[in-house]
Amino acid sequence: MAAKFSVVRGTKDILPAEAERFNEIKSKAGNIFSVYGYRQIYTPILESKDLFIRSLGEETEIVGKQMFLIQREDNDLVLRPEATAGVVRAYIENNLARTEGFVKLFYIGPMFRAERPQKGRLRQFHHIGVEAIGSDDASLDAEIISLADSILKSLLIDGYEIKLNSLGCLSDKKRLSDTLRNILSDKLNLLCDDCQGRYERNVFRVLDCKNKACRKVISGLTLKRSDYLCDDCLAHFESVLVNLDAIGVGYTDCVYLMRGLDYYTRTVFEITHAGLGAQDAIGAGGRYDNLVEELGGNKTPAIGFAFGVERLILARNKEIENTLDNNLVYIIPLGDAAKRESFKILSNLRAAGIISDTVYTDKSLKGAMRKANDLGARFVLIVGDDELAKNVVTVKDMKSGEQNQISRNNLIEELKC
Ligand code: HAM
Repeated sequence: MAAKFSVVRGTKDILPAEAERFNEIKSKAGNIFSVYGYRQIYTPILESKDLFIRSLGEETEIVGKQMFLIQREDNDLVLRPEATAGVVRAYIENNLARTEGFVKLFYIGPMFRAERPQKGRLRQFHHIGVEAIGSDDASLDAEIISLADSILKSLLIDGYEIKLNSLGCLSDKKRLSDTLRNILSDKLNLLCDDCQGRYERNVFRVLDCKNKACRKVISGLTLKRSDYLCDDCLAHFESVLVNLDAIGVGYTDCVYLMRGLDYYTRTVFEITHAGLGAQDAIGAGGRYDNLVEELGGNKTPAIGFAFGVERLILARNKEIENTLDNNLVYIIPLGDAAKRESFKILSNLRAAGIISDTVYTDKSLKGAMRKANDLGARFVLIVGDDELAKNVVTVKDMKSGEQNQISRNNLIEELKC
């Protein structure tokens, strides 16, 4: 069957097997969000273009090159490239500061960036993230990082690294960009063409460049936090580290971690996974203590992070994924009378909350057994004339291969334990 249409470049269909991985991640992360006291928020996928220009910054790659623009009447809308700006807009617009004060929110949903697609880099991908708005307490920074760490542990992902830095307050950031320009000024000719432009427009981005020559220059730099952080911001950062040490969350102190978005201040972090190749960031976040004010609210400190769900899936160990539980009970009727009875059994099992299904296409026992195997069924129930006469069903345990006849009256009880 030749398809007349294909999926849009950089987007993908999430077929049932992957959707299950997706849902498992959502549900495990969702549990941990609740344990940490975060409540869900849904904001629209469509937002105004200006929201992102104002929050991420005109000079960022996302705003400059990657937004999917939708022009309608006199509105410039975009498909959101990230969720932080929309959550902050919602926080201000719905007056959450007045009604709820300090809020801890989480979200799960699709984001859109017109990037060059490659492994782990899509044009439509999903974020699972949190935003805690209304406190500058350093232990909240540690909570957020520990939350990210707990999610990775619950997904049995290992081999990741949490890189941590502080950009300081707005005046520190200015001092940082001046310091960076200063130490790079005599090495400008060694940087790639893009970075020569970045040096002028947004020098932080030079430090993210993947170009080999630029990496070499960056690795030779000597930057110290005390060169640009004020006493308050230095104390805040040290307190974040003390809190993380106290709860045993590991991190790498990384003074060159800058993050590509303008709204960040003070703590920034990125979580990378060595197994992912070029697109190795599985999640990232940080403080944005001026964004609420920048978007029209009162001065309100905040912090958050987001994981890329597709990258979490790539980072998960395949063997672990294959051992996911599947509790499906699959009924195979043999003959018309059995089919009618099986339909009743199926209905009773479902009413009792047992995941169950039956064969709709394969008429032969062999074909139906193959289908049950493909679906990874835990038990197969076979119902034929013999079983009908004795008011039993034959239950095959697909793990052990054992087969027993069980009375229909005890079936639900037996399958439940
Ligand atoms: P971000 O670093 O742009 O941060 O995105 C977070 C994560 O989304 C990345 O670490 C990566 O795993 C995933 N990601 C980004 N772009 C793509 C892509 N094209 N394809 C697949 N996955 C991708 C933010 O967006 C911030 N809003 C995070 C944040 C929340 N900061 C504070 N609060």
